[in-house]
Amino acid sequence: MQDLLALLGIDVEYVRGKGNTLHCLDEAGKEVPVIDYAGGYGALVLGHNHPEVVATAKSFLGAGSPVLAQASRQPAAGRVLTRLNDIVHREFGTTEPYYGVFSNSGAESVEVALKHAEFDRQLTVRAILGEITEHVALAREAVRSGAATLPDDADGDVDALVGRVTAANAAVAARPPVFLALEGSFHGKLVGSLQLTHNAAYRMPFAAMAAQARFVPFEQPEAIAKIAEEERAVLLDLRLEGGRVRVVERDFPAFAALFMEVIQGEGGIRAVTEEQARTIRRMCTAIGCPVVVDEIQSGMGRTGAFFASSLVGLQADYYTLAKGLGGGIAKTALTLIKGQRFRPEFDLVHSSTFAKDGLSLAVTLTVLDVLEAEGGQAYQQAAERGERLTQLFRSLVDAYPQVLKEVRGKGLMLGLEFRDLSNAAAPRLREAARADMLGYVISGYLLRAHRIRTFPTASAVNTLRFEPSIYLTDDEIAALEGALRDVCAKLGDQDEEAFFGPASAH
Ligand code: F0G
Repeated sequence: MQDLLALLGIDVEYVRGKGNTLHCLDEAGKEVPVIDYAGGYGALVLGHNHPEVVATAKSFLGAGSPVLAQASRQPAAGRVLTRLNDIVHREFGTTEPYYGVFSNSGAESVEVALKHAEFDRQLTVRAILGEITEHVALAREAVRSGAATLPDDADGDVDALVGRVTAANAAVAARPPVFLALEGSFHGKLVGSLQLTHNAAYRMPFAAMAAQARFVPFEQPEAIAKIAEEERAVLLDLRLEGGRVRVVERDFPAFAALFMEVIQGEGGIRAVTEEQARTIRRMCTAIGCPVVVDEIQSGMGRTGAFFASSLVGLQADYYTLAKGLGGGIAKTALTLIKGQRFRPEFDLVHSSTFAKDGLSLAVTLTVLDVLEAEGGQAYQQAAERGERLTQLFRSLVDAYPQVLKEVRGKGLMLGLEFRDLSNAAAPRLREAARADMLGYVISGYLLRAHRIRTFPTASAVNTLRFEPSIYLTDDEIAALEGALRDVCAKLGDQDEEAFFGPASAH
């Protein structure tokens, strides 16, 4: 990574951060301000070192409050959940309660959802198998006592029939859970969550380590129906009807959960439409598959509501939250689980030393205070600032159609896609584009020439991602405009020296 940063000319050290500004050191050791549009991969909804968040952390530590007091009453955790339930109820117009499981990072909160969904499925399977065992005993008894006869194909051998049913059920019950995720998704890089992350370069080397997901085409959620048909399995049950034992099929809960971002982040800022969200919800309900909405990047107010999914009317069975929940200083995450699905036994099979630590809870409460203050002014600010940035990007796409392709996203979760330069006349630009490095080359130039920090994502190499804090100023937007106009003009002119230096130095 150091080599790559050096190659791109962005191997700088940042020594201070405040709001949307980071300060790096120049060669002479002098501090130079940089406008941070990368925003900690989306974690800095409130910017660097937000004064109220920092004050909370200082006073918590200054008061000698306990950071780690596991397995005790932790009223702050209850307060966080009450506040979040209020927000869920307001944004989704529901009164259903959600339980919460705390953890320490985005991927971990996805692992919690994965584990809980599978735990729930296993308990459901066990309950069905328990009922079948009872029915089998009743049928066996009825046949032995002469009260019932066997189906014709059982050759009069009740033990053989029971053996066949039991073996078939054991084979089906042992199948791994089926998880669904959308193409282009990013849900983390831990062993389980990685299998829900679509990028094959990340996922495939570790495919043998966890249950595989089936990926649903982003634009065609109807494909869930076909997958459901392919994955359909049944358990066999025995029923007594009119003095006959009958073998009946019962649906097997094959699906553990569908995971989705309503605005894909690492996948290049792509938003699902209301229509797509409705289709996914309807199809998942039809096949008994819970929906996990990953709001790790899109949530915490960045898109103009606390939950971006509320803007497309998609109420989830689970939500995963992280990044901005920690106010830019705490590493904390939370999985919300709908009350009717929550299995209280899960608390006994899942834990983490650092989850729900006192400092993070205090910080999260302050983050919620800041977001919810003055009737949710922060959400309006995110929407308004986002609209301003979107207008800027749209005007740039109009002005430089040969360089820019499109703007995507909502609020302060925006992507600006550059056109593919794989066939550019300038050899070094062409080479960079073919190596999927053009976005990084542009990022490097923006930092060196304009002191603006932004990145493409590894899964959408031509899309620059912009996720500044809600405190984005007009001046910061103006600086970005000047910088992007310069980039577009130079790319339009194929001025590769601007990006790579004189040819001889290459
Ligand atoms: N889910 C989403 C939607 C994410 O954007 C990320 C991380 C994760 C889960 C994993 O969270 O890093 O705390 O374990 N996204 C970063 C990105 C890395 O570049 O978009 P984590």
